[in-house]
Amino acid sequence: MTPAHASLRRPRTRSFLMCPPTYFDVRYEINAWMDASIPVDTALAISQWEQLVAAYRAAGHRVELLPASPDLPDEVFAANGATMVDGRVLIARFANVERAAESGVHAAWHATHHGEGADGLIVQPGCVNEAEGDFAVLSDTILAGYGFRTSKAAHRELAAVTGRKVIGLELVDPRFYHLDVALTVLDDESDHIAYYPPAFGAGARRTLERHFPDAIIPTSADAYAFGLNAVSDGYHVFLPVGADQLAGELTNAGYQVVPIDLSELRKGGGSVKCCTQELRYARADKES
Ligand code: ARG
Repeated sequence: MTPAHASLRRPRTRSFLMCPPTYFDVRYEINAWMDASIPVDTALAISQWEQLVAAYRAAGHRVELLPASPDLPDEVFAANGATMVDGRVLIARFANVERAAESGVHAAWHATHHGEGADGLIVQPGCVNEAEGDFAVLSDTILAGYGFRTSKAAHRELAAVTGRKVIGLELVDPRFYHLDVALTVLDDESDHIAYYPPAFGAGARRTLERHFPDAIIPTSADAYAFGLNAVSDGYHVFLPVGADQLAGELTNAGYQVVPIDLSELRKGGGSVKCCTQELRYARADKES
């Protein structure tokens, strides 16, 4: 089939916050993918992560770096640290004590790098939220997972901070413990998404079917290969390798797939999106 939408797809330049996996390790087990008895090759994790950074930069995106801390082996999963929408930031509050100190690192970075400017606001959370792990930002709404990490009360907090409607989606399968392993935003202007229905409760599935009738639905094999833990700029989809059928479908839908191998970080239960926090500045900041 001719990629009917190909001419409509266009990349939009992004800013990302990432943290090198200098101290990445699996020292504890807080999700179904982690096995502390399997050794981690940190040097390999670093070189794979550097390739992701290089791929983002080659596509014209800006990458900012967080300092890595020896006591925080999961800090590479920067998507979990804060959610920035229109320059307003809700800092994370982690469900597990092992990651609790990461929120302070993110709060300090945001305070130092853009402060509380005209439209800016940096909010410390009252409730548990694991940021972009469970929050998917669309053109004017936000999809929000709950069930394993982020609390439903945090959805209300996010709505208050951003002024956006937040749509709650229940996650039911421990392999898909964060929304960003079960659903990915392909185009945040037209709100085109892909998601894996079995990861969601019946009510959430109905909500997704109603709102996103043209969503791409991957195979189980592609979902288990972390195919939904992708990052898209509206044209390039930075996609974990191994999600082969999904790669074909994305190509047919007019996207340019950029394959990314983060096999070592998968031992921590994460891939491309988990490593990437998007910095969505307010329009005025963006132009400066
Ligand atoms: N080991 C980390 C945890 O369980 C992995 C986080 C992955 N991040 C994500 N955005 N899904 O918290």
